[in-house]
Amino acid sequence: MEIRGTGSYLPGKIITNDDLSEVVDTNDEWISSRTGICQRHISEGETTSEMAAKAAVAALEDAEVSPEEVELIIVATMTGDEAMPGTACKVQKEIGAVHAACFDLSAACTGFVFALNTANAYLASGMYRNALVIGADMVSKVIDWTDRATCVLFGDGAGAVVLTCTDKKGYRFISHSDGSMGNALMLEHHYDRNLETEQRRLSIEQSASSKVSMDGQAVFRFAVRRVPQVIEEVLCINGLSREEIGCYVLHQANQRIVEAVAKRLKEPLEKFPMNLQNYGNTSSASIPILLNELDQSKRLKTGDRIVMAGFGGGLTWGASIAEWI
Ligand code: COA
Repeated sequence: MEIRGTGSYLPGKIITNDDLSEVVDTNDEWISSRTGICQRHISEGETTSEMAAKAAVAALEDAEVSPEEVELIIVATMTGDEAMPGTACKVQKEIGAVHAACFDLSAACTGFVFALNTANAYLASGMYRNALVIGADMVSKVIDWTDRATCVLFGDGAGAVVLTCTDKKGYRFISHSDGSMGNALMLEHHYDRNLETEQRRLSIEQSASSKVSMDGQAVFRFAVRRVPQVIEEVLCINGLSREEIGCYVLHQANQRIVEAVAKRLKEPLEKFPMNLQNYGNTSSASIPILLNELDQSKRLKTGDRIVMAGFGGGLTWGASIAEWI
């Protein structure tokens, strides 16, 4: 697998920490010192699939791959436009990738890493040659804007990569889950299969107002323990040392989490680029958005070996390795 192109899309409306302090009892000092986040982009009317399609078009242009050549589209999202059709099918229609098999993957903020690992397995099997992997989330529509503990953390956006098969020996990737800790980070549906029809209709309407709930400290402890572990694990199974890694592209949730991971790995913080100050936690989109920025700013050079690692609801976590071309 080779990452042949990257693209991203952020909606135009920006909400700063000061803007949020007018909505909930918070302030810029608290948010920036506890999280590193200064602002986030919020969609005004754009859907998840529209953001995903814009990131996809940018990635295809960067890769110089036509939509007709794409054989697989995976969209990692927990905020798809609707349950059916899948967001990946809507992206297919929007960009004209008529030959692609399309499906969504739900692994919350780890979604992009899981989708990358899934696409890698398809490519390695020889089933497909070109794949589009997209992380897209509009968390603003499932946030409780009266809950200061969560609403300050997230933003909307989409990022995409184009993957192609190569003859070179590939890397092995890692995906992990722990369903027993699912309650730490939730976005509930209120659907009850035993309800009568009218009640069911009402409960489905209610589910549209489901909101993210979180045990912040439990998630923090989980992330700073599991992310360094999975990075060590992915290096070990691929026979690599930390010195052979040019840069770690981590899920962008909290600056303190990234700093803690760097410290536990005994790696310099310079090897952990961050952009969460500008976008907040964009869920499954955070890693491909950061990849695209690193690519465009030429921070990634040909031959650089990078580790991507994510964590999130489920709970889920995982890591992938790529060599920049
Ligand atoms: N503004 C001001 N005060 C806030 C606040 C806000 N936005 N949110 C919470 N507080 C208050 C709390 O009410 C609490 O007040 P109290 O001491 O009077 O009870 C105090 O700040 C400390 O809250 P606490 O939850 O202990 O803060 P924290 O240091 O653990 O930081 C998080 C909170 C959410 C930033 C941190 O736990 C975190 O980042 N967790 C991981 C979350 C995450 O990344 N989730 C997504 C994973 S994909």
